Amino acid sequence: STVNSPSTPIIIPSSPLQTSFIPKTSQLSIFKKKKPFNFASKKLVSCKASDRNQNNADSSSLNRFDRRDILLGLGGLYGATNLVSDPFASAAPIAAPDLSLCENSTVTSSSSGTSISVSCCPPKATNIIDFKPPRFSNIRLRPAAHLVDANYLEKFTKAMELMKALPDDDPRSFKQQANVHCAYCNGAYDHVGFPDKQLQIHFSWLFFPFHRFYLYFYEGYWGNPTSPLYDEKRNVDHQPPKMLDLDYAGTEELLSKRDQIKSNLSVMYRQMVTYKTPSLFHGAAYRAGDNPSPGMGSVENNPHTAVHRWVGDKREPFSEDMGNFYSAGRDPLFYAHHCNVDRLWNIWKLLLGKKRTDFTDTDWLDSSFLFYDDNANLVRVKVRDCLNSRTLGYDYQKVNIPWLKNKPTPRRPGRGSGSGSAMAAETNTKTVIRNAFPIVLDKLVRIEVPRTKKSRTKVEKENEEEVLVLQNIRVDRDVAVKFDVYINDEDDETPTEPEDSEFVGSFTNIPHNHHNPAVKLDTNLTLPLSDLLEDLDIERDDNIVVTLVPKEGKGLVSIGNIKIDFVRD
Ligand code: C2O
Repeated sequence: STVNSPSTPIIIPSSPLQTSFIPKTSQLSIFKKKKPFNFASKKLVSCKASDRNQNNADSSSLNRFDRRDILLGLGGLYGATNLVSDPFASAAPIAAPDLSLCENSTVTSSSSGTSISVSCCPPKATNIIDFKPPRFSNIRLRPAAHLVDANYLEKFTKAMELMKALPDDDPRSFKQQANVHCAYCNGAYDHVGFPDKQLQIHFSWLFFPFHRFYLYFYEGYWGNPTSPLYDEKRNVDHQPPKMLDLDYAGTEELLSKRDQIKSNLSVMYRQMVTYKTPSLFHGAAYRAGDNPSPGMGSVENNPHTAVHRWVGDKREPFSEDMGNFYSAGRDPLFYAHHCNVDRLWNIWKLLLGKKRTDFTDTDWLDSSFLFYDDNANLVRVKVRDCLNSRTLGYDYQKVNIPWLKNKPTPRRPGRGSGSGSAMAAETNTKTVIRNAFPIVLDKLVRIEVPRTKKSRTKVEKENEEEVLVLQNIRVDRDVAVKFDVYINDEDDETPTEPEDSEFVGSFTNIPHNHHNPAVKLDTNLTLPLSDLLEDLDIERDDNIVVTLVPKEGKGLVSIGNIKIDFVRD
């Protein structure tokens, strides 16, 4: 078979994590279309390079022209035709890595100080094929994990067996598959032409497309032991019937099942519904020559990280398997987890809101990765080829979406009404700081942040999202981190939970490494505020009070600055 005719009929279950909620009535009002899941009725995204002229406003930036020149100087990478046909296009997409320059990664444990060197480099290939979307006659539906039947499980088991039986150096073996993730996430590659810039496909706009392709190629040749989803290296405290915690911060919270469900659904609502623009959802722009990790999008940050951390085995030195990027792909659950994440990308674009679309920036669309296909050919893929999962021949089984009805609510309704900042300032005069950056997060910190624009017009509100930006969040890459961000939350007596509107979001890090362990993660976090300001009735306030609460990795994180900004993408 060839890439164009995927041979395996087996498909990945999309979500081991969906508990069997039974939402009652229609939740459709929040969707763009009346029939929210009629993917077939949406036009397929063209896979041809037709979006080339739709650059972002800043595409003429001198900086990027410089980079483009450097890249062209490398010869053949992008092809001169690109320049000739569209001289004003930006051209700094992240190029597929040069496999011959792949380096070992050092994985260190900050708690024990031990480190290991892991080689995640793939087998070399002399020939690279450019990806062509597959031809197929039927869209395959990836089933929800809780709806998988015996027949399906049998096929899945068989496939896992076959994959594990392949020799380790076969690029299609289970081991090599796990290595692909390790290499792209643990610093094995640099940007082509920028030997000092590590390639990292997390913490940026590459997160969704990379993982979509990763699953796509994995699906070609799958695999698993007696229970096909079994992996030894998992947190023993989190076996069934323990319920997953999407707000997980490394310690057990003693919530009732009911409260845990409520908390999880609120996290989902916040991360899916309040993030309304491409950069808020996907993450920050990341171009050739950029420093890695400019900033995560909503779902990558949460619940994606929480699931990795919750599943990873605390007895293992580096929280293997799921709790560290270098080993995550060794757990079969990884693929199911990422299917669920991938499914959320499809759903997000169907929610109401004119900006719930993918980027049209060609640096994103033309960014590329390399994967081995089911014939062991090395294939170069571009982001633009994966925007619609149906182009790749699959979609997800339709299930109800209970989180759509779980909008967080203010803790003390009405307390804001016009006096929000006055109250906040009064209650917090002793603890609120103003200019103390960089802040080391070793305890709860309250900071007053000025708002530059109040009473925005309706049109302004539609066109720009007011956001809270935490800049230069610095932390060792190999430590697990979670801190929470609240606004105008003055009550220290009862903990703030995801079901409260005041809970704006969290910052999370999954341990992952770099070939130079001394290089810290240096990233940003952008959290949408517009809806929350309205819900809390503090839209006319001069300042907001931001509370930062370290939950995991206390004292190990510093923050360079916090400001209010506006996102217009
Ligand atoms: Cu590449 Cu869930 O991580």
